[in-house]
Amino acid sequence: MSGKRKDDVTGTETTGHVWDGIEELNNPLPRWWLWTFYATVVFSLIYVVLYPAWPVVNRATSGLLGWSTRGDVAAEIEAVDASQASLFASLTEVDLRVLPRNEELYGFAQQAGGAVFRNTCSQCHGSGAAGALGYPNLLDDEWLWGGTLEDIAFTIRHGIRNDEDPDARFSQMPAFGDILERDQIALLTDHVLSLPGGADPAAGEAGQLFLDNCASCHGENAQGDRTIGAPNLTDAIWLYGDTPEQVASSIRRGPSGVMPPWGERLGEAEVRAVAAYVHALGGGEAQVGEAPVAEGAGATGAEPSDPDEVPFAEEAGATE
Ligand code: HEC
Ligand code: HEC
Repeated sequence: MSGKRKDDVTGTETTGHVWDGIEELNNPLPRWWLWTFYATVVFSLIYVVLYPAWPVVNRATSGLLGWSTRGDVAAEIEAVDASQASLFASLTEVDLRVLPRNEELYGFAQQAGGAVFRNTCSQCHGSGAAGALGYPNLLDDEWLWGGTLEDIAFTIRHGIRNDEDPDARFSQMPAFGDILERDQIALLTDHVLSLPGGADPAAGEAGQLFLDNCASCHGENAQGDRTIGAPNLTDAIWLYGDTPEQVASSIRRGPSGVMPPWGERLGEAEVRAVAAYVHALGGGEAQVGEAPVAEGAGATGAEPSDPDEVPFAEEAGATE
């Protein structure tokens, strides 16, 4: 190891470090490097003063600007809440008959309604809304109580056959086990099961039994009555099962499905949101001829053939 000296070839001072006879020259740092370094030092000092930097016991120093990632997120959430509050307010007021024409609000309602459905409705109607024995499928276009946006919202708001809401939809099929003979019920069971295949509801002895006991609710054509939630018996959709035992059981006991009311629990905006969601699942019906004509939509705007009026008609049809 030798001391520092001037290198003969370059005229630069050496550091005095030598390895295997190779000496290290003491070249100064490049200017650009040095200035970049100083700049980062200055930047870090300013940063430390303005932003959270030094860890203290359970948080960091807050910095002169008072900025934090948490505050950033809170502000974003607040902004979203504020924009949703106005959408929820409009949803509460909008005429449901024209809601599908308001793209922004309708889209928002379906989004919000999907979340409500997963929380509140899926335990009975299934996460995909396909229903189960006793719990109707909400994807098809067969409705017990009506399939317009207003009908669906009413059903959800007040529920069905519950004791909590005086406006709940209500009807009660008698238990024919106490009224008819066993062989009459057997006859009716076969008859009812033949209806989806196109049998005449009024034909023969069974047809007479049907007209006498059942047609007042299910209709002479057996196509049901939505004002009392009496199902269509000709459509091969069976809420309580399609085996002869199940159908006979329906006739014997007179089923009475119960759905709780949601108006109080969810509030009107969420009721409407989830109604929009259900309506858009595939079976929603338009309010034919009833929708007010939008300003400037022209004299024919309210015709049933108006594409805005039947936005889901083409997709409806999952009727098995
Ligand atoms: C506790 C179980 C239960 C829950 C929870 C429930 N429902 Fe129902 N829902 C029923 C039953 C049972 C019926 C059928 C009643 C009948 O037989 O008429 C029904 C019927 C309906 C109908 C009428 C279908 C038709 O064909 O007319 C709609 C619409 C509906 N539910 C929507 C909803 C929505 C939306 C929610 C969530 C806010 C919900 N339901 C939560 C049990 C439930
Ligand atoms: C007072 C009205 C009323 C009368 C009368 C009536 N029903 Fe019903 N029926 C209903 C209602 C309402 C339902 C649906 C109950 C529910 O959704 O829980 C129903 C359901 C049924 C079902 C179940 C359908 C399914 O999708 O699973 C069958 C089957 C049925 N009725 C057959 C009959 C027959 C047969 C008669 C005559 C002997 C009859 N009903 C008389 C109102 C009536």
